[in-house]
Amino acid sequence: MIEHADTVLKQINHGVYVIGVGTGERQNAFTAAWVMQVSFNPLLLAISINPAHYSYQLLQDSGVCTVNVLGRDQFALAEHFGRSAKDKMAGFQWRQAETGAPILSESLAYFDCRVSHYADAGDHKIAVCEVLTAATLNPGRPLLYSQTGDMDGSSKLY
Ligand SMILES: Cc1cc2nc3c(=O)[nH]c(=O)nc-3n(C[C@H](O)[C@H](O)[C@H](O)COP(=O)(O)O)c2cc1C
Repeated sequence: MIEHADTVLKQINHGVYVIGVGTGERQNAFTAAWVMQVSFNPLLLAISINPAHYSYQLLQDSGVCTVNVLGRDQFALAEHFGRSAKDKMAGFQWRQAETGAPILSESLAYFDCRVSHYADAGDHKIAVCEVLTAATLNPGRPLLYSQTGDMDGSSKLY
């Protein structure tokens, strides 16, 4: 047993991202912290996603996503996209990436990705994604997962 698992696991550093999934009429966006670069060549990012999420269906169907980096002052955005809701994307400015996935205009940077393959990881799936393009959009320092406290409700999950 791991005592205070939620606290000790927050010592592993992560950023906080809005993952834009899908294309056209079938798009959504959700907050994720479990994202990392896993290869230089090809340039690959791994995103750990709970297969129960609505966004997972859209990711599987479209095979594309964007990873949008949140800044220190974008705590409220992390909270907003960290909940399931209808029309979650409304009221924000989006642009379309080359793949057709949505880019969150106010994020610090984005990565436009195509899913290469999935791997099983306990109660999550790892989407290994090839980065097609990436760019910095706005200045700022990235938000850290440890700064979000128990926003994701993970303290109850260990
Ligand atoms: C700070 C934070 C980090 C999160 N990290 C992840 C993550 O890495 N992977 C994941 O599948 N869900 C993560 N979540 C949970 C999803 O954002 C949340 O379940 C969301 O409602 C899923 O969106 P959907 O139901 O619209 O698909 C995180 C939530 C928060 C607030």
